[in-house]
Order: sequence, then C-alpha cells, then structure tokens
Amino acid sequence: MDQLVIFDTTLRDGEQSPGATMTGDEKVRIAQQLERLGVDVIEAGFAAASVGDFLAIQRISSLVKESTVCSLSRAVERDIERAGEAIKGAARKRIHTFIATSPIHMEMKLHMTPDQVVERAVKAVKLAREYTDDVEFSAEDASRSDPAFLARICEEAIKAGATTINLPDTVGYAIPELFGQFILDIRTRVPNSDKAIWSVHCHDDLGMATANSLSGVLVGGARQLECTINGLGERAGNCALEEVVMAVKTRPDYFKLETRINTKELVPTSKLVSSVTGFPVQPNKAIVGANAFAHASGIHQDGVIKARQTYEIMRAEDVGWSKDRIVLGKLSGRNAFKQRIQELGIPVTSEVEINEAFLRFKDLADKKSEIFDEDIQSLFAPSGSHPM
Ligand code: KIV
Ligand code: ZN
Repeated sequence: MDQLVIFDTTLRDGEQSPGATMTGDEKVRIAQQLERLGVDVIEAGFAAASVGDFLAIQRISSLVKESTVCSLSRAVERDIERAGEAIKGAARKRIHTFIATSPIHMEMKLHMTPDQVVERAVKAVKLAREYTDDVEFSAEDASRSDPAFLARICEEAIKAGATTINLPDTVGYAIPELFGQFILDIRTRVPNSDKAIWSVHCHDDLGMATANSLSGVLVGGARQLECTINGLGERAGNCALEEVVMAVKTRPDYFKLETRINTKELVPTSKLVSSVTGFPVQPNKAIVGANAFAHASGIHQDGVIKARQTYEIMRAEDVGWSKDRIVLGKLSGRNAFKQRIQELGIPVTSEVEINEAFLRFKDLADKKSEIFDEDIQSLFAPSGSHPM
C-alpha cells in the first residue's frame, strides 16, 4: 500500500483560529503528543511571526525526534532565514514557503504580476534549500488560480528544489467532485511532477474540507494531506486529522493507503488540544466527539450488544476511547439495562427481579435525560430509598 504523509498544522494554521493562541509551553506539550500520535510532519509555527513563535519552534526542534519539524515562511528572504534558524536543531527539518497564485490575490493583495510571483517563488525555494533539503512550496489560493499559471509556477518551484508541492483550498471554495480532478489536471500539466510529493490543504468554510482532501488524494493522486486536530484553524477551520486518518483506515478497500498514525492516540490528542485552546469538541463530532460511539436508542443498543458491527464501523478503543458508550435513557431496551446491571456487578437473582427493576428504570428515565450508573445502583437499593 502507498504511504499517505500526514502533515499536522495544529500549531500553525490551528493557532490562527481566533482565540486559540497557545503559549510556548503549550505548543511544546502538543508537539510531543503529535509525535506520540505518529504524524509525519509537525508544522510548529511561523518563525518570523513573533519571537515567541520562533522560540517555540526552536524548542520543539530540539525535543522532537521522530516527526519532521517545519516552519512556515512567506516567500520573503527574512522569513526564510528565521525559519531556517528556528529549525536548525531538528533531527528532520522542513521549510514551508508560500505565495499566492490566484488573480485576486496577486492583483489585490500582492500587487505583483504573475511573472514577478514566479520569480519570487523560485528565489524563495532556492534560499530555503540552503537550510534544508526538505522544502515545501505552497501556491496559496490554488483552487481559485488559473490552471496553466499554477502548473507553470509548480514546475519552476520543483526545478528550484521544492520536494513537496502543496495546492491549498485556502478559502474552502472547492467542490469534492471537481477538486480531485483539478489536482490531477495540474499534476498532468507539470512535466517534472514526479520529482515532488503532491499535497492538499483544505479549509472547511463550506463543511467540505475532509471530502475535498480525500478527493485530492483519491482522484488527484496527492500523497500528503495537511490537517489539524479537531479541525481547528483559520475561520471555519481546516480538514480534521482524525477524520481523514480514520476514513483511510476504515476503508482500505477503497483508499489502498496507509498512514503512520497510532490511532489509539487520537482521542487523547483531541482532548489535549481542546483543553489547551479552550475550544470544546462538539459531542457529535466524528471520531473524537463524546457521542461518536454512544448508543442511545433501544434498537441500536440491542444490536450493539449482540454484535458491535451492527452499528459501529470502527472500534471505540482503536481511536483511544476506553470502550463504546451505551447511554441509558428512556429509549433504552431491557437488554442494555441487563448488561449494565451485570457490568456494575449488581447481584440479581431472577429475571423477575430484572423485570421489576426495568419498570422502575423506565419510570426514572421519563424524568431524567440520562441515567448514570449511580441511578442504576439506587434502583436496587432497599425499598423506600428508590430515587422516584
Ligand atoms: O490556507 C492556506 O493557503 C495556508 C497556506 C499558508 C498553506 O494555510
Ligand atoms: Zn490554511
């Protein structure tokens, strides 16, 4: 199976999420957890953005051994020098340099002609190569760029020494059905395309970041995917790492790809990022949400008790949850109730006793949205002390 490179940008694009600023110590803790998770590349920050970011990247570079440590830099001499300096101590190091390539960005933001943009990109990649052999070039706003121009700048960036070419959907404008074709089209137009790994970086403005990223991989042939934990990131966020990783793992028949991610670390990493940033994870968030493996309806609970595959396409413990969660409430059936009694070690002697307790349970469940283990225990407490 082909390897899919997982490039995590929680500490850079994720930090661009309003309100998600992290201290140097927090960044170091997250970077170490990302290394445990097994990400291939950690984009640790934007060295030229602040002294704090520079120092955090420097510390991460000295501590992280297994993952490549990367700093972002604009296609600007000083940015690249700062990035090179910050990652100097890393066992594996990358500089990620970018410039915008869409007409709207070149005209309205950069005030540069397409020729000037190509010249700047080439200069930036060459300078970055003086610090490391691992240089990534990103064409910002690629999805709104002219394909012929995009192919030209990618070809020149590869000639200048870029080893990864990233085509971002910077504003989350892409459509899954078209995005993969778009990536394939650009790769086909670039004569030296096989000299670089192609990458996608999708934002979630229309809620399609995961679908677009996977289309870029499947149809477009990208072999690096840029993402963040919990989908943190600028505006509506980036493609969520846990989603793409589990999609690839759950459907090997379709993707035929593997990652180096230790999926059991997904939930602990999600919890760490959530607690550091103060951004709660929505309960129904795929993979890492509290309800992602919770079964509340009686029919589902009964099915899961009989065979977990009836309503589970992944195992909760494979992504780091302790076990799947049967939520007892008014929709629960007798089977789920009986299983919880057994798990709690409550000594019941007969089916009649269970039936009677089940009636008391249903009565209680009508008054409370979720029944906790203590509630179940109290159902069996001596009469007079039932919580009814
Ligand atoms: O969204 C984007 O285009 C970026 C680039 C800097 C890669 O974050
Ligand atoms: Zn981005």
